Amino acid sequence: MISTAEQQRLITAISTLVSESIAKVLPCPSSEAAARGADAVSAFFALYPRRPLSDNRGGSGFNDSLWLFVLARAIAPRLIIESGTHKGHSAWLFRKACPDAAVHSFDIAPERLSYREPGVEYHTHDWSETDFGEVDPATSLIFFDDHISHAARIREAHERGFRLLLLDDNFPAHNLYATGGPPVPTLAMITDPELAFDSEITWFRKGKTYSYHYCEADVADARSLVADFVVLPELANLTRFPAGSALTFVRLAG
Ligand SMILES: C[S@@+](CC[C@H](N)C(=O)[O-])C[C@H]1O[C@@H](n2cnc3c(N)ncnc32)[C@H](O)[C@@H]1O
Repeated sequence: MISTAEQQRLITAISTLVSESIAKVLPCPSSEAAARGADAVSAFFALYPRRPLSDNRGGSGFNDSLWLFVLARAIAPRLIIESGTHKGHSAWLFRKACPDAAVHSFDIAPERLSYREPGVEYHTHDWSETDFGEVDPATSLIFFDDHISHAARIREAHERGFRLLLLDDNFPAHNLYATGGPPVPTLAMITDPELAFDSEITWFRKGKTYSYHYCEADVADARSLVADFVVLPELANLTRFPAGSALTFVRLAG
């Protein structure tokens, strides 16, 4: 990628941003968690060139992969669930970030899975059909990267006792063209005070027109279940790799 000395400068710049972000993200940010996150940046740079899937089109690229890895290291969950396995890249990443955690990856289209990481449990149904029993909210993390309504996923996660989420593709109503099949209504939409119910939202992508009717029934109580959230800072300005997908850390209420 780049020479060691230059890479070290990049790692230092990213580590500073990561430590600042972790302080905003974690419920009780400790100096250890911030240090774990910052150290994880170097570990990520060493690991990423050894990824089993060099072409992860349709899934997380360099910048979002970095966030997934460092946040998982900083939070140190014992249970990680991801919805949206795709080829298997992010499940591999979570396993490498937290080798002692139980990692479950769900996808309803398992034919895309190209790499199975030992220790990850792969499921071919919707995550909501698996009963995880009583979960420890402080040590369980869910990553939703399945293009299903954020409002629905927030309700499902909250109902099952989860409190720490990562939501991908958290685009506001005026950026829905940024991804195919956006998870409407997104968290950005349901927390947008200027977006009125019964709005018709239209966007264009790859020559096609799409629309979504933003209605109260789709949001239901999801907004009130969110304690706080942080859209993770875009790393593209530092790394010059393509921009990520508005990956967002969410803490649910209760
Ligand atoms: C953007 S890809 C996931 C990328 C992957 N997390 C990564 O970073 O490499 C979205 C995936 O969500 C899957 N998906 C769609 N509906 C789903 C559902 N109800 N449950 C789980 N996965 C679903 C699709 O089949 C697709 O493989």
